[in-house]
Amino acid sequence: MRIQAENLTFTYSPSSPFATYALKGVFLTIEEGEFFGIIGHTGSGKSTFVQHLNALLKVPSAEKKYKPKKLKKGETPPPQIVLKVGDYDLTDKKTDFKELRSKVGMVFQYPEYQLFAENVFEDVAFGLKNFRPEMTKEEVERAVEDALTIVGLDYAEIKDRSPFDLSGGQKRRVAIAGVIVTKPEVLVLDEPAAGLDPLGKKEIMELLHKLHREWCKTVIFVSHDMDEISENCTRAAVFSEGQVKFVDTPKNLFQREDELRQLGLDVPLTAKLTALLREKGIVIDSDYTQRDFCEKVLQYYREREEQV
Ligand SMILES: Nc1ncnc2c1ncn2[C@@H]1O[C@H](COP(=O)(O)OP(=O)(O)OP(=O)(O)O)[C@@H](O)[C@H]1O
Ligand SMILES: [Mg+2]
Repeated sequence: MRIQAENLTFTYSPSSPFATYALKGVFLTIEEGEFFGIIGHTGSGKSTFVQHLNALLKVPSAEKKYKPKKLKKGETPPPQIVLKVGDYDLTDKKTDFKELRSKVGMVFQYPEYQLFAENVFEDVAFGLKNFRPEMTKEEVERAVEDALTIVGLDYAEIKDRSPFDLSGGQKRRVAIAGVIVTKPEVLVLDEPAAGLDPLGKKEIMELLHKLHREWCKTVIFVSHDMDEISENCTRAAVFSEGQVKFVDTPKNLFQREDELRQLGLDVPLTAKLTALLREKGIVIDSDYTQRDFCEKVLQYYREREEQV
């Protein structure tokens, strides 16, 4: 499912003195099959944007009570908002939002805080009971087993345990299993590696790649970690003040070091090293993944030795 947003605006508490203009005209297209990153400093609108993708937040025209405003004479209509996920038009109140939510899985930041059931099985099965009430008991068991297995947990060992007795990493995996159990085509995660130690972060990213290969066609994740973005994404979007400033491959994006710094953003370690080497006259053209960067540096020194 391709995702397309144009002119997407969103205001929290509109028509109140506390109105916050969180999205101010977002234009962004994410193709089916991408492993897509979203970056931007705090308050730039990342979470507000991703919560639109499964209509957790809705554009006004998708609200049941919405009635189009009559324009006064001479008044220009506001720019038309486009928000599509595959064939679902998220600006249309007649859209089947429940069905959409089973196709676009949303993992919130610190999802482990949302575990609630008595045991892991019930927690993971909850989404299925909600979205797929027609499934038989056996089908539910099978789906829960598959979801727990793919997130790297031992079904037989964990299914009857209380989610609250698990380790932090296990809890997060259970929470992810509870979202992917409906087999969403698009998986959206808001800072999935936040608060984990470096090994935990690496394991979560490996899990996301596995899910991308075997389970969900498109993966979209919000991150503050530029190394995570350069290592993993096909493309990334940079949010700033409720708009998308750049969308590009990590390689092209992180060449804009000065512009990113102006937006309060860092660059990956590999980009910093590339800049340091360049100051010394050593030009390395890598895609900023650590593997490619190291290979290109080795290649440079090998070629230099051959010349001596
Ligand atoms: N529930 C809410 N009610 C009112 N304002 C909100 C709400 N959630 C977010 N905002 C405001 O909307 C703007 C965008 O916030 P959002 O959470 O989307 O940013 P973010 O890029 O996800 O930030 P962070 O990196 O801190 O998670 C901010 O000004 C924020 O204070
Ligand atoms: Mg956020």
